Amino acid sequence: MIRPMELGDLEEVTAIARDLFSDAWSKEQFIYELNENPYSEFFCVEDKGEIYGFVGLNVLFERAEISIIATKREKQGQGIGYRLLKKAIYEALKKECEILSLEVRTSNKKALKLYERNGFEVMRVRESYYSDNFEDAYEMAKAIGGLDAEDFSD
Ligand SMILES: CC(C)(COP(=O)(O)OP(=O)(O)OC[C@H]1O[C@@H](n2cnc3c(N)ncnc32)[C@H](O)[C@@H]1OP(=O)(O)O)[C@@H](O)C(=O)NCCC(=O)NCCS
Repeated sequence: MIRPMELGDLEEVTAIARDLFSDAWSKEQFIYELNENPYSEFFCVEDKGEIYGFVGLNVLFERAEISIIATKREKQGQGIGYRLLKKAIYEALKKECEILSLEVRTSNKKALKLYERNGFEVMRVRESYYSDNFEDAYEMAKAIGGLDAEDFSD
């Protein structure tokens, strides 16, 4: 199932993030996002009490941005990233957003493939965007205005 992330998920969520991201968010950052940031929403894919992946979304008027998306390493390549992406599109449509955007490292071939297959296009390159290795980011976006949210329900 896909459900909202809770504070009690953060041990598992931060362990997944530490494993996957060189610049992983700390537990405190996740707590801020869950408790303080009025624009953010987080969802987890859970099966039998185990978190397989999660997605974060920031919604500001007609624009939504995916702040983070991750599938546990052992569960990758099984469509969980696709489910999480669909959930982000679904939630953005429910909030009447027109555009869904994200940033991705230019070297992140797996993520790029997922986004391109799902209709995201590169809008521009942000040079030296990542502070850990000064890698460039692609800013990608998908026009979602007019799409039917029910086509993206889980
Ligand atoms: C990027 C990431 C979230 C993808 O998660 P995932 O669960 O492995 O993704 P999925 O299995 O849903 O998607 C990939 C596969 O789904 C399929 N797929 C996805 N969307 C599809 C679509 N619309 N139609 C058909 N197939 C699709 C593809 O066949 C693809 O398979 P392949 O790569 O084996 O050929 C995951 O690799 C990850 O967590 N990476 C580390 C963290 C990260 O880089 N996050 C992104 C930061 S921007």
